[in-house]
Amino acid sequence: MDMLKQRIRQEGQILSDKVLKVDSFLNHQVDTELALAIGREFARLFADKPVTKVLTVEASGIQFAMATGIALGVPFLYAKKKKAVTLAENVYSAPVHSFTRQETYQISISQKYLGPADKVLIVDDFLATGAALAGLVQIVREAGAELAGVGCVVEKSFQEGRGLLEGMGVRVHSLARIASMAPGEVHFMDDERT
Ligand code: G4P
Ligand code: NA
Ligand code: NA
Repeated sequence: MDMLKQRIRQEGQILSDKVLKVDSFLNHQVDTELALAIGREFARLFADKPVTKVLTVEASGIQFAMATGIALGVPFLYAKKKKAVTLAENVYSAPVHSFTRQETYQISISQKYLGPADKVLIVDDFLATGAALAGLVQIVREAGAELAGVGCVVEKSFQEGRGLLEGMGVRVHSLARIASMAPGEVHFMDDERT
């Protein structure tokens, strides 16, 4: 998605060789036109699959799940991050290990809103370690719903997330795949074609 890659090149701040800050347009301040275009692109990429619900995890997946839901004409649903002990009984939940914070937390969804009749498209802002997305996949499977696949806005292809999800049999589409980065330069996967 050229428009997205251009914005990453222009406005992305590379904080280390691993962390990309995109606070000006993706996940703090949000460019609403770009978010809607991202939603339409996910809808196009998964057009061969029937989808009844878009799923993400709070917080920064929400704007892209909403945009995708608008494009598909279906609701979106987001998993909440809460401690298991505070949850009522009728939820699906999965543990997620955060490598950046070195802690495990639970994500959960009410059983009222996800079930065997659903065909789910998962979306998120970043695909890094893939831990949170793997948790969402686990919840979709526990609910007996069908999984169309996972759509990510930015994939850091040098991290293990895509491999983890593909190893679970999940189809993954990312709109900007970063092969490598360093302060002042971003290399996308497409750029590597010879
Ligand atoms: P994850 O891959 O399972 O998300 O775990 P990880 O511990 O690697 O990432 C922790 C958080 O940092 C996640 O957000 C993830 O989306 C975000 N993240 C990972 N890499 C980058 C990056 O290069 N840039 C930015 N801006 N964010 C990154 P989260 O904790 O789920 O929280 P939220 O921001 O969605 O609320
Ligand atoms: Na996120
Ligand atoms: Na995030």
